[in-house]
Amino acid sequence: MTDFVTLHEVGPRDGLQNENAVIPLADKIALIDLLGRSGLRDIEVGSFVSPKWVPQMADTGRVLAGMTPVPGVRYGVLVPNMRGWDSFIAARVLGVTYGVAVFIAASEGFSQSNLNCSIATSVQRLVPVVQAAEAAGVGLRGYVSCVTDCPFDGLVPPEAVARACQMLRDLAPMPLSLGDTIGKGTPERVAAMLDAVLQIAPASALAGHFHDTGGQALANINVALDMGLRAFDSAVGGLGGCPYAPGAPGNVATEAVLDLLAARGFETGVDKDVITQAAEMAAAMRRAG
Ligand code: HMG
Ligand code: MG
Repeated sequence: MTDFVTLHEVGPRDGLQNENAVIPLADKIALIDLLGRSGLRDIEVGSFVSPKWVPQMADTGRVLAGMTPVPGVRYGVLVPNMRGWDSFIAARVLGVTYGVAVFIAASEGFSQSNLNCSIATSVQRLVPVVQAAEAAGVGLRGYVSCVTDCPFDGLVPPEAVARACQMLRDLAPMPLSLGDTIGKGTPERVAAMLDAVLQIAPASALAGHFHDTGGQALANINVALDMGLRAFDSAVGGLGGCPYAPGAPGNVATEAVLDLLAARGFETGVDKDVITQAAEMAAAMRRAG
């Protein structure tokens, strides 16, 4: 098992999408450009979703146009349907490496709330997106939300998560990110969930995506590392708290994950000093909002 861990930075997307106040385009671009100089190889920069649903991401096309891409970095965007794919194609800058992330839920309640449709319908909508991405040679990533708990349906059985993972893997052999969307997971339940998902996909194809609402994200990362996962999503400065709870923890903070990984002897290739600067920038953005 390798001692290298890949960090997927999701602050500019998962973090900022939760901020109530509109963050100026220039500030988003400055954060992405700084992160691009940190050694991170995967940075999620926005979403081509409905601006009525997620107004903060409405300027993702302008983010792509304005940022300074760093060779070797893959810039990720979320795409829920063909409308989102078409917007991505219209906005992309040739020569830049992008990744397209598709997303479904393991629970029906969250699927309805997040995508306004059932899990099965959300997967059907992804069929042409996956075909288009494969034809265009754009790398895919699949998110499964609510891998331990759903805000509407409660505890989510590991088998439901494995089923959702299988649905995405049936579309294409894409890597999967397993989202503890509301940060209620515990190491025991994360381990049970991973036991089920590892029947569907190898650890090398899985990433942990832990929100830190319950303060368990680092413990959950520890258990996932013990079970062989070597990729994790995190947000600089812990961006991503609930807009209705100022100061509430959001995605697990990139700087905290770096400290944990260093203490356990893992390599990441990420410069902690640059991440510390970016965390300060993220904190200033939150304060200004
Ligand atoms: P809908 O209302 O059911 O869709 O939304 P619709 O097809 O009926 O369209 C309604 C309107 O949206 C129409 O506009 C469409 O044109 C427009 P209108 O005629 O009313 O003016 N529309 C779009 N506009 C821009 N881009 C698009 C698009 N599609 C339709 N792609 C839809 C369905 C999927 C669009 C909506 O539910 C949506 O945008 N949901 C996205 C929600 C979202 O972004 N959530 C956050 C990301 S997921 C996440 O954070 C979890 C994750 O971090 C992992 C974890 O933590 O678990 C990844
Ligand atoms: Mg998330």
